[in-house]
Amino acid sequence: MNYRHEFHAGSFTDVFKHIVLVALLESFKKKENPFFYFETHAGNGKYDLASSEAQKSKEFLNGIAKLFSEKNAPPLIESYLAIIRKLNRLGTLRFYPGSPYFAKQLLREHDRMLLCELQPQVFADLKKLLARTENISVKRQDGYAGLKEFLPPKERRGFVLIDPPYEKPDELNSILSHLEEALERWETGTFVVWYPIKNRHPVDAFLRKVQAKIKRETLVTEFSIYPSDIQTHLSGNGMLIVNPPWQLDQKLEETLPWLLSRLNQAKGRFEIKFLVK
Ligand SMILES: C[S@@+](CC[C@H](N)C(=O)[O-])C[C@H]1O[C@@H](n2cnc3c(N)ncnc32)[C@H](O)[C@@H]1O
Repeated sequence: MNYRHEFHAGSFTDVFKHIVLVALLESFKKKENPFFYFETHAGNGKYDLASSEAQKSKEFLNGIAKLFSEKNAPPLIESYLAIIRKLNRLGTLRFYPGSPYFAKQLLREHDRMLLCELQPQVFADLKKLLARTENISVKRQDGYAGLKEFLPPKERRGFVLIDPPYEKPDELNSILSHLEEALERWETGTFVVWYPIKNRHPVDAFLRKVQAKIKRETLVTEFSIYPSDIQTHLSGNGMLIVNPPWQLDQKLEETLPWLLSRLNQAKGRFEIKFLVK
């Protein structure tokens, strides 16, 4: 387990993932009854962009640094930026939130959040930052085992974010089998899988398998600021959303063109499509 998210905090992939996350949280808040939010691979709550890791990769320069001072962003991006500004009260960009922090800001008192994180120091930091709140629990355990242990939730509605570090070559296949099993436990739950796009072939093979095996409505959205044949970078990233909330696709249609125009370098692209309908 060598993965360190500090290198990628605030990158264009984090920006995209967290904007989709904010859209999902806002969708679940449209109904008054409580929802459950579960992260299998939580990461930290807060990243210092002045750390040696962030300064070495400088990935945030092509991500959040290009948006932080925006004054006329679409409403979804405004909600996302408001959370980041809360962490940077002096008005200069220094800290970038992790997904648990975004969720904490948007959860209501009667909603519930459960976070699994295996790395000891990340777990300790996350617990210190978040766990004093009654409706949040942080567990130091394998997130995939958590899918078996904690689903279905008593709230009956909500969503799971599966955002592993992709250190294992067969991670996508393993996600698919965990997803199939988790859907047997909780068929109406929303499941969100983040995936990197380095090489198109394994991603397309994964999406074909999802199409063949998952019988629930599934939305896929992808985003990149680079041409797809770029060799030196992660060329893009995507999110697979099983049982997406109503009109999430429309919300993304209203938002991603603007995001691409602000972050684009050359030949970036985005996509929003139903894989299973
Ligand atoms: C990509 S990062 C999460 C980023 C976070 N979701 C965000 O968007 O801010 C993946 C995290 O999973 C943790 N991790 C790795 N294997 C794990 C496992 N089997 N179960 C739970 N956490 C794991 C890593 O330590 C790392 O902090």
